Amino acid sequence: WRVFAPLILAINALKAERGAVILAHSYQTPEIYHCVADIVGDSLQLARQAAEVEADILVQCGVHFMAETAKLLNPTKRVLCPDPGAGCSLAASITAADVRALRRRHPGVPIVAYVNTSATVKAEVDICCTSSNALAVVESLGAPRVILVPDRYLATYVASQTTVEIIAWPGACEVHERFTGEDIARYREGDGDLRIIAHPECPPDVIAASDFTGSTSAMIAWVRANRPRRVALITECSMADNLAAEMPETDFVRPCNLCPHMKKITLTKILACLRTLGGEITIDPAVAEGARRSVRRMIDLGS
Ligand code: 13P
Ligand code: SF4
Repeated sequence: WRVFAPLILAINALKAERGAVILAHSYQTPEIYHCVADIVGDSLQLARQAAEVEADILVQCGVHFMAETAKLLNPTKRVLCPDPGAGCSLAASITAADVRALRRRHPGVPIVAYVNTSATVKAEVDICCTSSNALAVVESLGAPRVILVPDRYLATYVASQTTVEIIAWPGACEVHERFTGEDIARYREGDGDLRIIAHPECPPDVIAASDFTGSTSAMIAWVRANRPRRVALITECSMADNLAAEMPETDFVRPCNLCPHMKKITLTKILACLRTLGGEITIDPAVAEGARRSVRRMIDLGS
């Protein structure tokens, strides 16, 4: 904290001077999440809130697709990403040309894209979803078959919850796909008290062995509601760090994985971004129109 404190003070002073608003995903480190962010949440919460921000400058502490989503939903604002090189294995797994090929292969089948995609991919699909609303979005289409890209594990999870036939794409989150069913069995051994909750980007054997599966916000809500004595969050490491600060009576067991992309965002880069107003997100207007329609359609569903 001796290193963090001067940076936190400088960021908060400059943020006020610039009239900027800082948004942070739940996978950001505690010094960002608790000490400089004005708005925190999962992908869906951040997208909804970004659309409502009235300040002229939004600093999106998350990965590039999250900053693009904020820009799509609030296009007249200056949206900055402290490290625009912060990518995502899911966003990197599919291109706009891939989506066009899927449409040719499955004519008439609606295509849903996880928000963890580039704006060029969003522009080609019918609607977006996040892990919080994927099932509701798929079912809202009223179609017997739906293409859900690019996370194959989220697609498998949604398919297990609905009668809609899901056509998947072979993308995966490099953080969640690393957990295995054997890991879960090992964590449980000799630890009868341990509750295990997993994100739907995890493989099916991990989900089957967990006590609860839900998006980032659903996992947080579950821990707040159940107040377990010991809990393992099968997701990105900062989730447990951020919740532990709020719930000292709960023991957060740490079989977690770090997202190298989320961890590219640091206090030093946030301060530099506020000083220089660098890392501005721009989206080709020809792409933005279609991408905004897909994201807006999701937001307007209200689920
Ligand atoms: P949610 O925020 O929708 O739970 O997604 C998790 C994730 O991996 C974001 O990058
Ligand atoms: Fe992408 Fe996974 Fe990192 Fe989220 S946690 S940004 S889905 S690689």
